[in-house]
Amino acid sequence: MPRSCKVFAGAASAGNRCRFEVLEGFGLVGARGRGYLWWAMIVPTAALYRVAYGKYAVGAYNINNAEQTMGLFRGCVESQAPFIIQISKGARKYTEKRMLEAIIRSAEEIFPETIFAVHLDHGDEETCIDCINSGFYSSVMIDASHETFEKNVEITKRVVDLAHAKGISVEAELGMLGGVEEDIAVDEAHACLTDPEEAVEFIKRTGCDSLAAAIGTSHGAYKFRGRQSLHFDVIEKIRENVTAAGLPPTPIVMHGSSSVPAEEVARINAAGGTLDPSACGVDENEYLPAARLGVAKVNIDTDGRLVWTRVHREFFHSKPGEFDFRPPGKTFMDEYAKFIAHKNVKLGSAGQVEAIRASLAK
Ligand code: G3H
Ligand code: 13P
Ligand code: ZN
Repeated sequence: MPRSCKVFAGAASAGNRCRFEVLEGFGLVGARGRGYLWWAMIVPTAALYRVAYGKYAVGAYNINNAEQTMGLFRGCVESQAPFIIQISKGARKYTEKRMLEAIIRSAEEIFPETIFAVHLDHGDEETCIDCINSGFYSSVMIDASHETFEKNVEITKRVVDLAHAKGISVEAELGMLGGVEEDIAVDEAHACLTDPEEAVEFIKRTGCDSLAAAIGTSHGAYKFRGRQSLHFDVIEKIRENVTAAGLPPTPIVMHGSSSVPAEEVARINAAGGTLDPSACGVDENEYLPAARLGVAKVNIDTDGRLVWTRVHREFFHSKPGEFDFRPPGKTFMDEYAKFIAHKNVKLGSAGQVEAIRASLAK
């Protein structure tokens, strides 16, 4: 549970405001707004997995500022989707972690009908501890995948023990994605897919709740040379091995899931950008087949950055005399909301918010 509070179960719509049953010990968070009792919900990440697993994937979107947050919430309201907000170490430095928390808490009040979890993306041990103790996060990711297997197990287990004592779930990484994240760059030669045998041992020994598996993707805009597919065989084998070992189903997390649309890259370049036109990402039509095999969380950051870059480049390219950032900022929020709603359709999470609410109310 992300916080020690009571649960307020029920649909947060104008029709049933104030008619919430109070249940002890579930960990949802209420918000007051517009003179009524409304409840937006920050929920345990595990509560989203429980409903989504094997059916669809929940979009996990990185945010860094208020404009992204507004676009994200609007896109999820429009598409009626549950979602995960993820905050990287870089974001916590850029906007300041307290500012990000304040932005999200405000969004919770502005959009009371949303259901979402708050997650630390690619944490080290120190940041995980800070987030666990903050009482704000639904889950943390400990990323010790660059360490040896034994060291990864050791660090992850320490974080799991601390997090579980506070009812927070833990995503851990095994295998190594290519690309750049934070200050760590992994070249193609060092990237390696998750070994399904090791995955079972890792889950058993660490007790982690979800597994960030390397299944052929990488972070950033330059994922593949030519068209490449996800390694469905690896996803399937991990699931098979987990079941055979008698472990509960372990949601798999796909990092590096941006699709890097060619038209977005072309528009950026037409407005003065110099992105390599060979940039390409994951085929969006592979999200759902992966979800059906147990990929329950899909991490998307780069595609949102491309939306920001396209909007701002096009605006200032066509209006070189402008210096007010609000007109492009407004367009960005609209475009980001559209982008999020589209992704949620591709992930299968669109239209699922009421089912999540119903499951939470049980
Ligand atoms: O995987 C990394 C995410 O895209 C976050 O990126 O560390 O630049 O905020 P960042
Ligand atoms: P992309 O770079 O493909 O958006 O991946 C983001 C990610 O994995 C965040 O953890
Ligand atoms: Zn990642």
